[in-house]
Amino acid sequence: MTDEGRAPRLCVTNAKGGTGKTTVAINIAGALNDRGHDVLLVDTDPLGNATEGLGFLEDYYAEPPTVFDALTDHRQRDVVDDVIVAHEEMDVLPAAVDMQDAERELTIADLMARLAETPGADPDALTPHAVNMTPEAISAPHAKDQLSKVLDAVERPYDYVVIDSPPYFGELLDSSIYAAGNIVVPALTESASQGGIEMLFDRVDALGRETGATIRVLGAVANRIETTNEDQRMLSWLQEAFEGVPVWEVRKRVVLQRAFARGVSVFKYSAGSDATRWFDAIAADVERQLGPEARA
Ligand SMILES: Nc1ncnc2c1ncn2[C@@H]1O[C@H](COP(=O)(O)OP(=O)(O)O)[C@@H](O)[C@H]1O
Ligand SMILES: [Mg+2]
Repeated sequence: MTDEGRAPRLCVTNAKGGTGKTTVAINIAGALNDRGHDVLLVDTDPLGNATEGLGFLEDYYAEPPTVFDALTDHRQRDVVDDVIVAHEEMDVLPAAVDMQDAERELTIADLMARLAETPGADPDALTPHAVNMTPEAISAPHAKDQLSKVLDAVERPYDYVVIDSPPYFGELLDSSIYAAGNIVVPALTESASQGGIEMLFDRVDALGRETGATIRVLGAVANRIETTNEDQRMLSWLQEAFEGVPVWEVRKRVVLQRAFARGVSVFKYSAGSDATRWFDAIAADVERQLGPEARA
């Protein structure tokens, strides 16, 4: 599929755990579905919280081939279509327990890409150390495009692809951000969140330099807002840090936890709740920034 024909992708990311990545990813996907779109949710967190939460624990523990094989073996990209499962609101490319090994495979891929650019070096020397990875998987001066190639291999056309990413910096996160080219950053409204966001900006800049890709920040989600002074201070800080892009506000709501426990977004769990309004506003903004009109 050409770039123009390709569904817009966004990666929900913040390398700090517990900021609401999984909650935000599922509810943006639910909101886009509610607005009439076909959505694929991709879970690249090896812990598989989104996969399990949406009811696909069996797929998480499935025998190979899994997303791990599609990601790390260029001959198995096509298995992705068989691995995708259907949820009532979206399709899901589930994480798998063997994704724990993906970080190492992608690190080997990165080294293979570097050796391929080093006169006299043999990238194939690393092949025996990998489970699946071989130099044939590498077609760019870098190897950050492995997940992008998996998503390119997906047959079914979607309107949007939403990626839920791991809570740490590394190759899987780089690949997730690179594949999407667009990020949404959930952050808790507490001052301890600042360092992680500054590091994320640095990482995104470095990834852009390493790959030549332009990575666009769609917005931040100020998440689990309460009414303390600290929340207000952090909201102001976020508005400055994300100058020029929206800072969407999502308050602390038990309904979001309950919807997750039921394996659905708030749009199925509690239509009309205030949380659906907040996520619908985010989805409308995503449409504005990435939808067909924005691309026309
Ligand atoms: N706006 C919110 N209101 C209440 N609970 C929330 C909200 N956002 C996230 N949570 C809860 O916070 C915890 C961490 O969220 P999660 O989405 O798993 O974060 P991450 O994926 O970044 O680790 C979960 O228990 C989730 O239900
Ligand atoms: Mg998560």
